[in-house]
Amino acid sequence: MLQGKTILLGVTGGIAAYKAAAVASRLTQAGADVRVVMTAAAAKFVAPLTFQAITRHRVVLDTFDEEDASVISHIDLADRADAVVVAPATANAVAKLALGLGDDMLSTTLLAHRGRTPVLVAPAMNVHMYANPVVQEHMETLRRRGTTFVEPGEGFLACGYTGKGRMAEPEEIVNALISALTPRRLMEGVRVLVTAGATMERIDPVRFLTNDSSGKMGFAVAEAARDAGASVTVVAGRTDVAPPRGVEVVRVESTQQMYDAVLSRFPEADIVVKAAAVADYRPVAVADRKLKKTEGADASLTLALERTPDILKALGERKGPRQVLIGFAAETHELEKHAMGKAAAKRADYIVANDVSRPGVGFGHDTNAVSVYTADGLVEDVPLQSKRAVAERILAIGFEEYRARTAPGSDET
Ligand SMILES: Cc1cc2nc3c(=O)[nH]c(=O)nc-3n(C[C@H](O)[C@H](O)[C@H](O)COP(=O)(O)O)c2cc1C
Repeated sequence: MLQGKTILLGVTGGIAAYKAAAVASRLTQAGADVRVVMTAAAAKFVAPLTFQAITRHRVVLDTFDEEDASVISHIDLADRADAVVVAPATANAVAKLALGLGDDMLSTTLLAHRGRTPVLVAPAMNVHMYANPVVQEHMETLRRRGTTFVEPGEGFLACGYTGKGRMAEPEEIVNALISALTPRRLMEGVRVLVTAGATMERIDPVRFLTNDSSGKMGFAVAEAARDAGASVTVVAGRTDVAPPRGVEVVRVESTQQMYDAVLSRFPEADIVVKAAAVADYRPVAVADRKLKKTEGADASLTLALERTPDILKALGERKGPRQVLIGFAAETHELEKHAMGKAAAKRADYIVANDVSRPGVGFGHDTNAVSVYTADGLVEDVPLQSKRAVAERILAIGFEEYRARTAPGSDET
């Protein structure tokens, strides 16, 4: 899949440098011509000879080691790269890349890279280093400039801590690279409507009922649809993360507002993915002034709640024959029964069910594992992986169905 592509693999000085050998090996096996540049620190963890043997090229460490007099090595490497992968990327390497420093061969080569070809960075570091605002700010700077991060996973780290910082698996890095290099405009002209985040139901001017949804899953769906060439609208409630660029974002607060925003846009949508976590109940009355606490024996407060409008059901009732409707169900038990029942009751084409009691699944996480059902049964188990990768699978299922319905000669056309 990478035949004819030259990949510049930057390896920096973290424990995960040993995993970079597997990245180099997979890239080579996929047909790429892999050129490895290591930092001096990286060479303390893994011998350059390992990469030389895998890639059949000399590994470059020193900016001034100009082996071929006809070129300037760092410019030549940068110019020839069809893509750049930095794996693992230390906190130091991320900072240097963001600040534009060029004090060794790798950082100098990355400075000479013109940004016309993809740059993928797979950070790997101690959990506290990764959470350090300075690291996060550098990553944000790089994202704004178009760098793609293959996010680290959560788990046991070599430093003894458990948390986020472990380099993504080599397979995930190579897959991310393949998708970055594969122009996918498959969904050109398809209109995708996505809901994301949590709704908020006001109790009084300063209090509200909400839930744990971070918006990451919905935004991942929106981003994947955008990258596939679709025109995307996201109706988003409260979210912990920023929406992707290049999509229309409609901000709402309550379930009623989300209902109105989604239903008004539904006639123009081809595929709807309802990833938002919507409140089932809202206070019957919203106090227009802050509720004051009472003291004494009967100091308890009872909040009367009423049902909110059911958005998925309303869409199911209005669905045209070509429209594909995908709902979500977060469950803690009897996943299959609830998902199939929900698909039937709401006339949804698919229900994406996640067992939120499993580690790494559902609310707030960067990863998810889901099972996709129709009213008739299981379509696909999507194993634990990044929300972006899960989003791509969900969209692929929805898009395949949409294509079948709109194909010439189909009953639905
Ligand atoms: C045993 C050991 C493990 C390390 N692991 C990491 C790591 O995983 N991530 C990281 O950012 N820095 C790590 N460091 C620190 C970096 O090696 C250090 O910041 C170095 O200057 C990075 O250089 P480079 O970015 O030029 O490769 C580690 C250091 C040691 C001694």
